[in-house]
Amino acid sequence: MTIKEIFDTMDYGPAPESAAEALAWLVDQGSRFGHFINGEFTAPGDGFDSRNPATGEVLATLTQATQEDVDAAVDAARNAQGKWQELGGPGRARYLYAIARLLQKHSRLFAVLETLDNGKPIRESRDIDIPLAQRHFYYHAGMAQLMESELPDAEALGVCGQIIPWNFPLLMLAWKIAPAIAMGNTVVLKPAEYTSLTALLFADICRQAGLPEGVVNIVTGDGAAGEMITAADVDKIAFTGSTSVGRRIREATAGSGKELTLELGGKSPYIVFDDADIDSAIEGLVDAIWFNQGQVCCAGSRLLVQEGIAGRFHTKLKARMDGLRIGNPLDKCIDVGAVVDPVQLDTISSMVAANQAGTMHQAQVEMPESGCFYPPTLIEGLSPADLLMQEEIFGPVLVSCTFRTPAEAVELANNTRYGLAATVWTENLNLALDMAPKLAAGVVWINGTNMFDAAAGFGGVRESGFGREGGWEGLTAYTRAKAKIKPLAKAEPFDGNGAPADPLDRTAKMYIGGKQARPDSGYSQAVYSKTGTLLGHAGLASRKDIRNAVEAAAGAKGWSRTTGHLRAQILYYIGENLSARAAEFAARIDAMTGRKTGTAEVETSIQRLFTAAAWADKYDGQIHGVPIRGVALAMKEPAGVIGALCADETPLLGLVSAMAPAMAMGNRVVLAASEPFPLAATDFYQVLETSDVPAGVVNILTGRHAELAKPLASHLNVDAVWSFSSTDLSAAIEAASAGNLKRTWVNNGAATDWTQDHTKRFLQEATEIKNIWVPYGE
Ligand code: NAI
Repeated sequence: MTIKEIFDTMDYGPAPESAAEALAWLVDQGSRFGHFINGEFTAPGDGFDSRNPATGEVLATLTQATQEDVDAAVDAARNAQGKWQELGGPGRARYLYAIARLLQKHSRLFAVLETLDNGKPIRESRDIDIPLAQRHFYYHAGMAQLMESELPDAEALGVCGQIIPWNFPLLMLAWKIAPAIAMGNTVVLKPAEYTSLTALLFADICRQAGLPEGVVNIVTGDGAAGEMITAADVDKIAFTGSTSVGRRIREATAGSGKELTLELGGKSPYIVFDDADIDSAIEGLVDAIWFNQGQVCCAGSRLLVQEGIAGRFHTKLKARMDGLRIGNPLDKCIDVGAVVDPVQLDTISSMVAANQAGTMHQAQVEMPESGCFYPPTLIEGLSPADLLMQEEIFGPVLVSCTFRTPAEAVELANNTRYGLAATVWTENLNLALDMAPKLAAGVVWINGTNMFDAAAGFGGVRESGFGREGGWEGLTAYTRAKAKIKPLAKAEPFDGNGAPADPLDRTAKMYIGGKQARPDSGYSQAVYSKTGTLLGHAGLASRKDIRNAVEAAAGAKGWSRTTGHLRAQILYYIGENLSARAAEFAARIDAMTGRKTGTAEVETSIQRLFTAAAWADKYDGQIHGVPIRGVALAMKEPAGVIGALCADETPLLGLVSAMAPAMAMGNRVVLAASEPFPLAATDFYQVLETSDVPAGVVNILTGRHAELAKPLASHLNVDAVWSFSSTDLSAAIEAASAGNLKRTWVNNGAATDWTQDHTKRFLQEATEIKNIWVPYGE
C-alpha cells in the first residue's frame, strides 16, 4: 500500500477528550454557584442555568447578582485595596506567579470546562485560550515586580469593575484581572451569563493561591448586573463586548470621573494580494474566521482579495471549507465547534437569511443533528455598502469582495465604522509595511492572523473602542499619576466700566483652515481689562464654525504623514516667532487677566513649544518581544483630529500646552481658546501664519465652552476631545462622545497645574499605538 493509498482510505476516527473530571468538579461544587466575594463563595441564590451549547444539557445553576451582591463585592474590593497596594509590586508579583502556576497545573480541567461551557473546540481551549491566560499572569507578575522601578510616578486607580464577554471567557478574565491586580488595584469582575464557569473555577484558584480576601471578587448575572457594576462606586470600568453596550456604558459613566476602557466589536479586513502564498493565506483564513466559530472581536470577517487571483482563491477556499470538520467540541479532531447559545445562533441565522446580495457557499459538511451549530459560510461578490460588509455577524460567516490596487484595498479596508484589526497577505514586505500604517486598526497582522501575546497591546480605534490590553501600553489603563488633585476654580471675565468703546474696530477673528474667519453666528463678546477698559471683541463661534474648523482639520491629513523632524522644525519656528513678540503677548495677557504673570507665561509657552519640538522625533514606539519568529512593532500614530477646550486661566500657555504636543505627534487640532481671556489665542494665529504651519493643522475658535463642547464631542470627524476648561464639561463631553466612541480626556472638576510640564502625558493622549506583527523566516 502506498502512502497515498493509506491517506485516501484512512477513515476519520473521533478522539474525544473526557469530560469526567470537569463534570465531577461541577458536582463537587453542588452544581449550584453563588458569587465569589471577599474570598468566599456566597450561598447560591435565584438565578439561571448555564448550558453546554453543543448538547443543550444543563451544566450548573448560577446566581443572578442583586444590588446587595454587587455592593458587597465592591465593599470587599474597596476594603482590600489599600493593603494590597501597600504590599508593593514584588509582594503582589508572588501571588500573580502562584496563580499562573496553578492555572498551568489545572490547565486540562480549565480547557475541558471552557469547551463544555462555551462550545469551542478543545484544541483551541487547550492550545490557545488557557496557555494565553497563563502567559498573561506570568507576564504581569513581571510587571508587578518592575512597577516601582519602571513606573515610579504611577499608582493604582483603586477598585476596577470589569465586564467581560462569552467568546474567550477565561482569557478575557486574565486580560482584565492580571494587569489590574499587578498594579495594585482590586477588582469586581462579571463574566458573561453564558460562560461563567471557568471564572468560578478561577475563584477557587485564587483561594488556593492564598490571594488576600477581596482582591478578586466575581459576581455572576446578566446585563442588569453589568449595569449595577457600571453604576457602583468603582474607579474604573473595563469592558469587552458589543459596541452597543460599550456605547451605553460610555453614556452611563459620563462625568462620573470613572476611568473607562472599551474593547468592542470589529469587521476586520483580511487582505490578500496576488503575490501572496495562497495556501498559507487560506489556512490563515480558516484561523481568521472559523476559529472559535467566528465569535472573535478581531475575526478576519471581510475578505478583500486582489482581482487577478480572486477566482482561484475562492475555489480553493471553498474546497478547504468543505474539508472542515464540524461537531462535538470535545473531539480533538474537530475544527469548528458549537456557537455559544441558541440566541447567538438565531442572530447569525437571521442576519444571513436577510441578505439577498452576493452568492453564498456553505461548507458541504456533515452537520451534527442537534446543538447550536452553524456551517462555515462564505458570501462572495458583495459590494462595500452591503449590510453584511458593514455589520459584525459574530459567527462563522465570511463575506468577500475584490480590489485592484493597494490604494483601493486601503479604501475598502477602512470603509467601516470599526478599527480593531487587519490582516495583510503578500510576499512583498515592502508593500505590507506600506499598507500597515494606512489601515485604520489597532492591530495589523502580516502573513499571519489572530496572533496574540501578553507582551503586545491589543485594542482598537474608532467604534472598536479605546485603550489597550497587554504590553507596557496596557498598564496605563490601570494606573494614574501620583500627583495631588486640586479642585477646579472658575476663571471669570471682567466687566466693562461703561466708558464708550474705542471707535477703532478691535474685533479679533477666529482662525480656520489657515484663514482668518468671522464667526458664523454674527455674535461677539467684549473683553475687558480688570479696570473695565475694552480690550477688544472676540467672536462667539457656533456649531457651523466648529463644522468648518473640523472640516479644515480633517482635510489637512498631509500633516500626519510628515516626518517628526519637519514637525519639530515648525514647532521651533513657532517658538522663535513667539519669542520675537514676547513683550507684546505678555502685555496682552496681563491686560486680560489683571495679573503680572504675562512674561512668565510667554516664556513657559516658548519652553513648551521647544519641548514638544524636541519630542517630535523621539517619542518612539517599541519592538515587543513576542514568542514568534518575528517582531511585533508597537508604532505610535497620531490620534487624528483632536478638539480641545483650552485652559481659561492661562490663555496662552494652556493653548500652547495642548497644541504643541498634539502637533508634534502629527495631529490636527481644533482649539477653543480661553473663554474669559480669548485675545492671546487670536493674536497667536499671527504667529502661526508666519511660521509655515500648513492650513488646517491648527484651527482656533473663540466662544463659550459650554456651547462648543457638545458639537465638538459629537462630531464624527473628531477623533479625540480634551477639556481643560474651568467650566466642568466632562459629563456633556463624555456623553456626546459616545456617538462614534471617540477618546476623551477631561478634567472632571480637577485643575491642571500649567506651570508643570505635562508634555509626556499629552504625547500619550495624542497618540494611538498600533501593533504590527511581522513574522519572518521559514
Ligand atoms: P454584550 O455586549 O451584551 O455582552 C458582553 C458583556 O456585557 C456580558 O457580560 C453582558 O452580561 C454584559 N452586559 C450586557 N448589557 C450590559 C449593560 N447594559 N451594562 C453592562 N454590562 C452589560 O454581548 P452579547 O449580547 O453577549 O452579544 C451580542 C453581540 O455583541 C454579538 O453578536 C457580537 O456582535 C458582539 N460581541 C462582541 C464581543 C467582542 O469581543 N467584541 C464579545 C461578545 C459579543
